[in-house]
Amino acid sequence: MSYRIPFNKPLIAGKELYYVAEAVTRGNVAADGYFNKACCRLFEQQFGIKKVLLVPSGTAALELAAMLCGLKPGDEVIMPSYTFVSTASAFVRVGARPVFVDIRPDTLNVDEKLIEAAITERTRVIVPVHYAGIGCEMDTIMEIARRHNLLVVEDAAQGVNAFYKGRALGSIGHLGCYSFHETKNFICGEGGALCVNDERFIERAEILRDKGTNRQKFFRGEVDKYTWVDVGSSYVMAELLAAFLYGQLEQMEAISHRRREIFERYDELLAPLEEEGFLRRPRIPAECQSNYHLYYILLQDAATRDALMAYLKAQGILAVFHYVPLHTSPMGQSFSYKVGQLPVTEDLASRLLRLPLFYTLGEKDQEEVVTRIKQFFGASKANGGVPATVPGLEYLSWDSDHFGFRVGKITTQASDCQLRQMLEAARTAGYTLIYYRSVQEKLVADDILRQFGGILVDNAVTFEKQLRTGDSVTPDQLVTDKLVEVLSADNFKDESPLDELAIVAGQYSRFFQDVRIPPDRARELYRIWGRRALRRELADEVFVAVQNGDVARPAGFVAVKVEERTARISLISVAPMHQRQGLGRLLMAYAENYASERKLSRLMVTTQFRNQPACRLYEKMGYTPVTVENVYHFWLDNTKG
Ligand SMILES: Cc1ncc(COP(=O)(O)O)c(C=O)c1O
Repeated sequence: MSYRIPFNKPLIAGKELYYVAEAVTRGNVAADGYFNKACCRLFEQQFGIKKVLLVPSGTAALELAAMLCGLKPGDEVIMPSYTFVSTASAFVRVGARPVFVDIRPDTLNVDEKLIEAAITERTRVIVPVHYAGIGCEMDTIMEIARRHNLLVVEDAAQGVNAFYKGRALGSIGHLGCYSFHETKNFICGEGGALCVNDERFIERAEILRDKGTNRQKFFRGEVDKYTWVDVGSSYVMAELLAAFLYGQLEQMEAISHRRREIFERYDELLAPLEEEGFLRRPRIPAECQSNYHLYYILLQDAATRDALMAYLKAQGILAVFHYVPLHTSPMGQSFSYKVGQLPVTEDLASRLLRLPLFYTLGEKDQEEVVTRIKQFFGASKANGGVPATVPGLEYLSWDSDHFGFRVGKITTQASDCQLRQMLEAARTAGYTLIYYRSVQEKLVADDILRQFGGILVDNAVTFEKQLRTGDSVTPDQLVTDKLVEVLSADNFKDESPLDELAIVAGQYSRFFQDVRIPPDRARELYRIWGRRALRRELADEVFVAVQNGDVARPAGFVAVKVEERTARISLISVAPMHQRQGLGRLLMAYAENYASERKLSRLMVTTQFRNQPACRLYEKMGYTPVTVENVYHFWLDNTKG
């Protein structure tokens, strides 16, 4: 069946057909001709790969990689279950057992934090799959592999011309695999490449690819005849395809640029639907540069996904989903895996939908895809099919990603009756956790707390000090005596020195207080906030106190954010071993100076009532408490909770 707006369309981007003809006139259409070498050289030079070998498919690249790993029956290979079959089948063919690990809710890549627990004495290889052209957390994965003496084979089938911390995907692991299948960014019908980054594997890779012979050595004049030396197969790419591929690679930047435009347009047009809580858009971590291989949306549940897909189909638009998680497939089950073992994978795979994305997708067609999606939600809302947005409830996408379930906050002061209605509606809309702040005198009734899993997690006290322009706090004795140096964020290129301090900043907070939040998630939350503050995403300035020049282990820091005429302290922390030495006062003084220099009229800081040392310090420094709020967490029971 053909669609008015197909899911994918192959592209002739430049001189592909001309190069195919040229390959014929050059007199070599089998393997390893002029264009084959040109493609390999381009990848090697542009992506910093030691040796690239063109092969007939991404699957073939994975199979060669698996053969090179020298596995024995029963050896174990760690990989996500949310991937294409070839990732697993390549290793199963050589007798290994796939060990499936769950994925991260933000990128849908293997969750690096779960890898170490899956390692046994039989583990030999880790296979990170860079889903959608967004890199896995490779620093962590390579470090785990180094510590446990494992090999890393990157499945970068979707990751050609994408980068992690500036390094090309496929160039980081010991081996990497690319695909040029017609659905990929750069195509030749069917095709792939094996990237060899560890020199130990180059010679054998050439032999296995060429029927187990040392023919490549013969061509280089290193042996006087070639012969059968290992058990390989024919894993070469025909020169006709390499010629076509080279035409595509010459247009790599133009193709990537257009895909990026389409991706960003989807992202912009779909943002309102995410804000309303109907869907979630893809996330790209700051350290990753995507190649915009695909655009997906995550719907609220499988039924909504299937209904939307059918609705689009009826309008002549093909949107598709993948993958059936491998651990739930008949082959996966033959390795004794069971449904329910990888909850994040199973949940996200059931809710994901890929939208049309190809070079020649016109603006009008793209807009129509979005319009139809909006219509679908409008119509469903009227039918009561999909939960309406809840007035006064804001969906928190960052928090939802971090915790892996739907999180929202109630943005108004609600009467008991309104609060009940909002929490009921939030439960129906699939929320797990709702934040709510009420003014001091308005405690939430016990029966509401009982009915909706509510707990009082904080009494937040906000202090304020009026500042006069030109006021400047006199330099602190600690600084004049050169005991402490205070540096601005600009002096810190490395993001990690604030990690431990940021966690200390949160120790009295509701995230540590609420026993339903795993402590590691709470620590991670503050660690990320510390890093984002230092990058000036969550703060306009950060002052870091350093003793004895020890910039790697600062003694304390304060992050200041400016909102109109007010400066606000977003985080403040002093390391336990440096407390009671006047550092808190010193950091506050820097924040005050920063605010008065910018002619701001006041400085505000919020802390927990139970953090009495902080409350006393602020009062001593002339701050007055202006509001006290009760902060609640409601843990809603719902099927996804
Ligand atoms: C993650 C992943 N691995 C492997 C492959 C296999 O590549 P090919 O289709 O070129 O054999 C694909 C392609 O669909 C893929 O997406």
